[in-house]
Amino acid sequence: MAIRKNKISVIGAGNVGATAAHLCALKELGDVVLVDIAEGIPQGKGLDMYESTPIERVSVNITGTNSYDATKDSDVVIITAGIPRKPGMSRDDLLKTNAGIVKSVSEQVAKFSPHAILIIVSNPLDAMCHVAKSATGFPKERVMGMAGVLDTARYRSFLAMEIGCAPDDIQALLLGGHGDTMVPLPSYTTVQGIPVTHFISTDRLAQIVDRAKNGGIEIVNFLKTGSAYYAPAAAAVEMAEAIIKDQKKIRPVCAFLEGEFGYKGIYLGVPVILGAKGVEKVIEIDLSAQEKELLNKSYQAVKGLVEVLG
Ligand code: APR
Repeated sequence: MAIRKNKISVIGAGNVGATAAHLCALKELGDVVLVDIAEGIPQGKGLDMYESTPIERVSVNITGTNSYDATKDSDVVIITAGIPRKPGMSRDDLLKTNAGIVKSVSEQVAKFSPHAILIIVSNPLDAMCHVAKSATGFPKERVMGMAGVLDTARYRSFLAMEIGCAPDDIQALLLGGHGDTMVPLPSYTTVQGIPVTHFISTDRLAQIVDRAKNGGIEIVNFLKTGSAYYAPAAAAVEMAEAIIKDQKKIRPVCAFLEGEFGYKGIYLGVPVILGAKGVEKVIEIDLSAQEKELLNKSYQAVKGLVEVLG
């Protein structure tokens, strides 16, 4: 009996997309298809990546293409197509351009892979999830956005630098929209189970949270010609792996809410269980009055963008 391999398609073969495709191959999550509108780029990067597989000792196929045929029956599709942020640009400046790109890409993806689970990376993230959901007509559990895993990874990295411990030893959650309106939850931040406040004063913690909020801009200001891609790609691939391997990982994910946390019909970053069905459950944790207020600000910001898009 032929064994069907998993298939992961990555749309957008730029910095985030190519890095994500490479990580999927290195982790042997399945065959990888890299799609981009730019002629030659996905073909060249895909072939180059495939040529690394004998050295990496992984057995996966990698296809680079400008058409969607090869994406047929993908299990997971990571959408990174769009234009990245330049210095001085907010994520929201990207809104209209990327909405058009994400809409057309999502329609193609749905046509060839009607059962796929979509992980959106293109910014502004929360709004792009709305675009992808309406363009595909997929159920809410199969369209999600990558933001919280990245934002939390940045926060965990900065905490590890401060404490002098392994980043992996830090468990943390951040809610809300991607970027400036994210909601830090110090009460849910622990270092191997020890409350973070044992190591760091409240004032210093606030500074670290602030650095995490502006983590994307910090990288943009260094790179000048584009935005971050190693950590964003790693975050998207962690989500893809949780889905492909049905790991039931609890992660902050941009998910469609239907009453959870008091919000209806909106994408917001919340803790979820990620497994083979996609977003299998939204976990409604208790929030303080201040955290609720911050989440509401986040909600208003996302709602504003969605309204602009109509
Ligand atoms: N179809 C397919 N690919 C497209 C399309 C389209 N309609 N439009 C643009 N692209 C491709 C570009 O050709 C480019 O190769 O998307 C790729 C984007 O790559 P980069 O410019 O390197 O951007 P990147 O840093 O990867 O960021 C992509 O992720 O983190 C977010 O804010 C970021 O929205 C941006 C996205």
